[in-house]
Order: sequence, then C-alpha cells, then structure tokens
Amino acid sequence: MTSLRPFHAPDLFKVNPVNLDVLTENYNIAFYLTYLAQWPTLFFSTVNADGNLTGYMMGKTEGDGKEWHGHVTCLSVAAEYRRIGLARTLVDNLERRSDDPAHAFFIDLFVRTSNRLAIDMYKGFGYSVYRRVVGYYGADPGEESEDAFDMRKPLSRDVNRQSVRENGENFKVSPDEVYL
Ligand SMILES: CC(C)(COP(=O)(O)OP(=O)(O)OC[C@H]1O[C@@H](n2cnc3c(N)ncnc32)[C@H](O)[C@@H]1OP(=O)(O)O)[C@@H](O)C(=O)NCCC(=O)NCCS
Repeated sequence: MTSLRPFHAPDLFKVNPVNLDVLTENYNIAFYLTYLAQWPTLFFSTVNADGNLTGYMMGKTEGDGKEWHGHVTCLSVAAEYRRIGLARTLVDNLERRSDDPAHAFFIDLFVRTSNRLAIDMYKGFGYSVYRRVVGYYGADPGEESEDAFDMRKPLSRDVNRQSVRENGENFKVSPDEVYL
C-alpha cells in the first residue's frame, strides 16, 4: 500500500535509500528546507505501509508573465519500488497543483541527456524537449560536464501551446540563459 503525502522536515532522516542512486541529485539540508518553507505544497512524498519513504517530488513555481511555470527540481523513486506507477503519481500531482491553483503556463524539468529512461518516461507523460542546455551538469572542478534537456509540458492555461517547440533537441543554450 502506498500513500501520497506532503514531505515533512523529519523525512530528511529517511531519504537516503531513495537518494542512493547516481541519477538522483543530493542537495544540502538548507536547500531542502528552503523548498519546504517556500513551496510546501509542491514537495511531497510516497510512503509505504510502514511509513518508509519510497519516493518524492521536489517542485516549485517560478518565472514571470508567459514564463510562469511549475518546475520539477527532483523526482526519485527507491529502486525496490520502481515500475509500479509512483513516478506517474508524483508527476500527475505536481501537474495538477501547477495547473490549479498556481495557473502556471507549463511545467518544465532538466534531465541528463544520457538518462534515456527518464527522457522516454517524460515523453510518455506528454513532455517534449524545448532546448538543450550545454554543460548544465558538472560545472564543479574535476567533474565531467554533461548537457541537459529542458523538457516541457503545456498546462491548460497555455491554450495555444506557446511554451513548446518542435525539434528542441537542436536548440542549444548556455546555463546562464535558463532559470536555475
Ligand atoms: C525515472 C524514475 C523516477 C521512474 O520511476 P517509477 O516509479 O519506476 O516510474 P513509473 O512506474 O511511474 O513508470 C512510468 C512510466 O515510465 C516508463 N518506465 C519507467 N521505468 C521504466 C523502465 N525501467 N523501463 C522502461 N520504461 C520505464 C514506463 O513507460 C512507465 O509506464 P508503464 O509502467 O505504464 O509502462 C525512477 O526510475 C528513478 O527514480 N530514477 C532515478 C532518478 C531519475 O532518473 N529521476 C528523473 C530525473 S529528472
């Protein structure tokens, strides 16, 4: 049995089994707590019958005018709870909340261009590549950099689908041209 509920600060003591994944970004405590303070309704988790964390979505809203959007900062599901629809549930929930009450135009996210599984999953959820952010990951010394795809899905407010484009894979930008 799985429940969907808001992420609570003490959940940070339970997050390691979910974060033990090379494709899941690990942040410092202050970063998680800032999200909880600023966007408490957009940071939520799935828990099993024993109350253990099985996955979570860390989201936010940002941007001005037509760029007002929901953003997936981190989505991760514990390895032993994958492929039972938890990511779909977490993404659906963020989309619903970004649509109403936030009235955002679209949702977006950044994903490593090597993360084929996640890219295909998001395409299956109706997202498409808007642009390629060159060297988005790994700006730290000694790290190999990797590009990100900025993927987007229009919400009901974007009636004319102005937030998406064809062939976004070929539209290259630098990290300082995007919201971080
Ligand atoms: C990507 C990730 C979140 C998917 O979580 P999940 O709970 O297993 O995904 P779901 O069960 O909701 O699957 C949704 C759809 O994605 C696709 N999918 C998910 N895992 C897949 C796999 N291993 N192989 C093929 N397709 C897969 C399927 O189309 C699936 O729908 P279906 O089961 O009806 O066929 C999880 O693998 C994960 O945490 N990965 C590491 C972190 C990461 O990459 N996060 C995303 C980066 S932004």
